[in-house]
Amino acid sequence: MPKAWIRERKNEHYYKKAKAENYRSRATYKLVQANGKYGFIKLHDVVVDLGAAPGGWVQVTRKIIGRHGFVLGVDLQLIEPFPQSYVRTIISDLTDPEIAAQIMTFLPRRPNVVISDAAPNVTGIWEVDHALQIDLASKALNVALQILRPNGNFFVKLFQGDLMNEFVQTVKGHFNEVKFVKPDASRAKSAEMYLLALGLKTTLE
Ligand SMILES: C[S@@+](CC[C@H](N)C(=O)[O-])C[C@H]1O[C@@H](n2cnc3c(N)ncnc32)[C@H](O)[C@@H]1O
Repeated sequence: MPKAWIRERKNEHYYKKAKAENYRSRATYKLVQANGKYGFIKLHDVVVDLGAAPGGWVQVTRKIIGRHGFVLGVDLQLIEPFPQSYVRTIISDLTDPEIAAQIMTFLPRRPNVVISDAAPNVTGIWEVDHALQIDLASKALNVALQILRPNGNFFVKLFQGDLMNEFVQTVKGHFNEVKFVKPDASRAKSAEMYLLALGLKTTLE
């Protein structure tokens, strides 16, 4: 069976599944699968989702944490609001130097988890897109280091490439355990993958 055909069917499968299950994006299943395997988001957690539009990860996080948890979605674009009081969304730039302080004003307590599926506008030039993605992931890490509670978790999208290793080493310096995750819902051929960092050792206070 041609690989392109299988790939096409898989993408269509997650697209249709998202529609049928009322999720806002097929990306939702990347978080469902990663958290199903590693359980880094738990009931009652406070979670910050950086680069959250249209809100698929917020939807699934809301279900995991329940009404005693809290989830804040942050994006440059408007995220259609959710009716639950424990789900908030804001229009903001995760690269803004003031973003960590701004985020904290919305949270009931320091977050247990920061997740980021943020992606730049791709140029089509491989090296540029890779560098832009690593830059966004580094900014997301910076935010996580400022706001996470000790022992908190961080889950971030990366594009594979030569700048990745240095970023991963930096993350390893701050967390007890770091793993690469490639959910089935992530296109096999794409350079996209996720880094899961468990157990923040320290915070930059
Ligand atoms: C792949 S989408 C996220 C999909 C989301 N996980 C979902 O399930 O609905 C990537 C998002 O990153 C956002 N983004 C890119 N740069 C950003 C920035 N500097 N600050 C905030 N959001 C950003 C984009 O606007 C886009 O909505």
